[in-house]
Amino acid sequence: MIEAQPLEQHVPTGKLKGRTALVTGGGGAIGGAIARLYAMEGANLLVCDVDPGKAADTAAAIVKAGGRATPCVTDVSKPEDCARAVKLAAETYGNIRILVNVAAAVIPDGTVVDLAFEDWNKAFAVNLSGPFLMCKHTIPEMRKAGGGSIVNIASQLGQLAVPKRSPYCSSKAGLIMLTKAMAIDHAAENIRVNSLSPGAIDTPRALWRYNGDLAAARKARGPMYLLGRPGKVEEVAYGALFLASDESSFMTASDLLIDGGYIAHKTLETKTVDGPRA
Ligand SMILES: NC(=O)c1ccc[n+]([C@@H]2O[C@H](COP(=O)([O-])OP(=O)(O)OC[C@H]3O[C@@H](n4cnc5c(N)ncnc54)[C@H](O)[C@@H]3O)[C@@H](O)[C@H]2O)c1
Repeated sequence: MIEAQPLEQHVPTGKLKGRTALVTGGGGAIGGAIARLYAMEGANLLVCDVDPGKAADTAAAIVKAGGRATPCVTDVSKPEDCARAVKLAAETYGNIRILVNVAAAVIPDGTVVDLAFEDWNKAFAVNLSGPFLMCKHTIPEMRKAGGGSIVNIASQLGQLAVPKRSPYCSSKAGLIMLTKAMAIDHAAENIRVNSLSPGAIDTPRALWRYNGDLAAARKARGPMYLLGRPGKVEEVAYGALFLASDESSFMTASDLLIDGGYIAHKTLETKTVDGPRA
């Protein structure tokens, strides 16, 4: 089966040369892959993550590979952190042209009866208010730079509900709609806004449901996908590169679904095993 090449084998062509990109959740699996790929393509990276060690690790890996990156401890649910991150990127690199909102909260499974109100609020504070705040502070910088591209990492579960994930599904559906609404508001300023909805991707976030066992996760989740397997972080990162680059210059207000055919499969087959949990 064909799979995207590992990032180490990527041949850069300078698609993002000289542009500055902020990536929230940049210390995580998908955010880290996006940040690394953007840096390979010539971008200056501000790696934002609430976890200082993870932000530092991604930034260090980029610098070690010859790229430019600065870690920034950022809790995207805090307005002052988002303002500080954008200011740091502007002062360090200038020319802010790209924002990728990747950070997402981990919320326990449960129905609305089971869940605490705090769980609901946390999902929305990180998954939806976080992108709002980052966009609020980044868009004025993009105006100065003459335009930009915002990529919001949503989920297939923003389009399809699964059991006991109401805060996650609702916040991701909200993010897809926030994307469209912002795209309308900022198109005339040459700022494009798109979302990218991954299906289940093999990351630790998804694997904890299978006790970290990659083989077990693949076996359980593979049959849910038309392509017979979950996705890889590179396969999301390449989509995020397309959306950030000029190659997607006629795209705004879109949701790019990278789900291995999962949503179509679900539509065709109503009698299925338990849904994916990413
Ligand atoms: N992995 C999947 O299967 C999958 C599927 C669909 C969508 N997604 C989405 O992709 C994104 C990344 O997922 P991942 O699997 O790489 O997860 P991950 O847990 O590896 O990465 C998430 C990162 O966000 C950071 N983070 C959490 N709260 C934060 C906050 N308040 N402020 C800043 N950073 C914060 C974490 O420290 C972590 O580094 C998420 O938005 C997730 O919803 C993932």
